[in-house]
Amino acid sequence: MIIAANWKMNLNSDGAKELISALNKQLASWPDIQVVICPPSVYLRETRALADAVIRVGGQNCHEEIAGAYTGEISADMLVDCGASHVIIGHSERRLYAGEAGALLTGKVERAFAAGLQPIFCVGETLAQRQNGDERQVIATQLADIAVFLRAGHLPIIAYEPVWAIGTGRVASTSDIGDMHDFIKSECQRLIGPDADVGTDALPDILYGGSVKPDNAQAILSVPNVDGALVGGAALNAADFAAICDKAQTIETS
Ligand code: PGA
Repeated sequence: MIIAANWKMNLNSDGAKELISALNKQLASWPDIQVVICPPSVYLRETRALADAVIRVGGQNCHEEIAGAYTGEISADMLVDCGASHVIIGHSERRLYAGEAGALLTGKVERAFAAGLQPIFCVGETLAQRQNGDERQVIATQLADIAVFLRAGHLPIIAYEPVWAIGTGRVASTSDIGDMHDFIKSECQRLIGPDADVGTDALPDILYGGSVKPDNAQAILSVPNVDGALVGGAALNAADFAAICDKAQTIETS
């Protein structure tokens, strides 16, 4: 199971060090969990240096071009240079605040794969879209942006994050989560198609994200087709993040 931390624009150098040191000490309790930490990019290098080798680190975004006159942007190769192995792409906050969608995100995923990064591609519907009954259509449209990679056997990790559950304390019900994760798996299967050059068992891991906390992690991570979690707020506190990893490990060993 994969438990990924999205620190967003939080913490400072001291806070990052404190959090990583605390996690390093507990890692031995999670032999079956892949921990991925996505700090702000300015702390990537020090996070990589401090984190135990089994922890992966990732960026929170990358640019779709290799290099050039893009002030303020960060390339996939730069993330790799700073020790990243993963990168979050298409997070709902990027979709909302930076207008990212469609072909732009396809370009970012392409650049990430080309740099050797594992993309964590985020999808999710807004509350209005769910209330209108459009959630499956929305997710299908977002997944279509990565069809080309699925068909080529390059599998991004997918994070299903209902927008209305992110940072709000509202969590989707386990049946809604299960339904959507099943739908995403079958949609990926459909996009890959019968004649693609990958086996039918080559499907992406799907993480759930949106107010995952120690007290709901057990229920969420036990849902079939939930392969892990992308954790925001609760990842800023070592005890909370560790408690989520503990729950994940318990499920793996049960
Ligand atoms: P949250 O954030 O856990 O604070 O809801 C999750 C995310 O945005 O990835």
